[in-house]
Amino acid sequence: MLKPTGKLLGELKVPGDKSITHRAFIFAAFTKGISEVDNLSPAADCYSTLECMRMLGLDIQLSDADGQSVKALVKSPGHTALHPAQLGLFAGNSGTTIRLLSGLLAGQPFKVKLDGDESLRSRPMKRVIEPLNSMNVCVAWLAKEGHAPFVIEGAPANNLELKAHKFKLQVASAQVQTALLLAGLQAEGKTTVELPAPVRDHTVRLFRHIGVPMLVDDPLTTAVQKLDEPLPPFKLNVVADISSATFFMVAAALLPGSDIKLLSVGVNKGRRLVIDVLKEMGADVQLENEMECDGEPVADVVVRYNGRLRGVTIDGGNIAAGIDEIPALSLLGCLVDGKFVVSGASELRVKESDRLSAMVANLKAAGANINEKPDGFEIEGHKHLKGASIWQTFGDHRLAMTGLIANLICQEPLAIDDTLCIAVSYPTFIEDLNRLLIV
Ligand code: S3P
Repeated sequence: MLKPTGKLLGELKVPGDKSITHRAFIFAAFTKGISEVDNLSPAADCYSTLECMRMLGLDIQLSDADGQSVKALVKSPGHTALHPAQLGLFAGNSGTTIRLLSGLLAGQPFKVKLDGDESLRSRPMKRVIEPLNSMNVCVAWLAKEGHAPFVIEGAPANNLELKAHKFKLQVASAQVQTALLLAGLQAEGKTTVELPAPVRDHTVRLFRHIGVPMLVDDPLTTAVQKLDEPLPPFKLNVVADISSATFFMVAAALLPGSDIKLLSVGVNKGRRLVIDVLKEMGADVQLENEMECDGEPVADVVVRYNGRLRGVTIDGGNIAAGIDEIPALSLLGCLVDGKFVVSGASELRVKESDRLSAMVANLKAAGANINEKPDGFEIEGHKHLKGASIWQTFGDHRLAMTGLIANLICQEPLAIDDTLCIAVSYPTFIEDLNRLLIV
């Protein structure tokens, strides 16, 4: 019998979406004037992007819009008048920052050093740099080949033309796709990016919203051409982050008596695996007030505990839509009737930590019957999760938040080795969890 330590009740609006906030700051470089971005993500990752964009000459002023959400006025000189950022750019823990900035810098007439923290230095950068090389961008690896720190030299810095290209990506990565499209906005000719599987399409939606002309715009293939003049400034209200909302959805599906409503959550098709999986497992999940907010679909997500969860298989074709949610979803897998299987998810090994081996080790230590596979894992569902173990986060924010939810469903407490890293994506997570939690 599951011995719950509480239930979640009430309404919550989680902070603004991290992926969209990064894009809003970076895409503002392609405008001239003052853009207004409301309901920003307060993630440390997004502050890394903000600081980098300031170094590149954007004037970004923040204000506390209503005591809850943060608003930014972003004044940009346009992409043809950015500053050389001689001090280099530091992306912290953020893969999105370093990869998207590489695309922006591809067309700039200067060279810049890009670096990040220890975790970011271990993540693969060739997936974005090699395609940029074929556009005439030069990169010097400063420590280990294929990893930060590196110096990127925009094609014009070498008196070369940034060459448009037709790319066929091996990895279904929204970051790589976006980086190449940002380079494409500065390249002569038509730059086409074809994906092996659909990904979150925030870039295309925001491009449409701010007026970037798209030459091809379908789920797998996108194409842009050179933007000769900066665009006019834009206004954007960022939707609530579904990756942050996931932790509450999972907890509500697992804790008896729970009944929550998560407000104005972004339910982009390329991000909503969590909702689809919960429904397929038999959880009581309803979407209310579905509408569009500045080009993104949003809905209030209602989750009510119903005690019925059956096993499912999540495979490669769907993984991209829940790439950041697999750690939290795996908690559901421990308490299902039947088997919970994840496959085709080897990308999880190169995130902020190796999330496959980390989750398998943590869940095994907590008493789950889980087996690691090269590209996923299999869990034999059980009636309860024992706990009384150490939960290792490896400095990974999503593992830390998953650990806090796991602690609520375990029979005996977990010792989570680090919760400070949560600030990377959701600084007020513990506060928000406490608001909904009734013990
Ligand atoms: C992101 C895309 C995903 C995701 C990351 C944010 C984005 O990475 O894991 O947290 O904002 O484009 P990949 O596109 O490399 O899978």
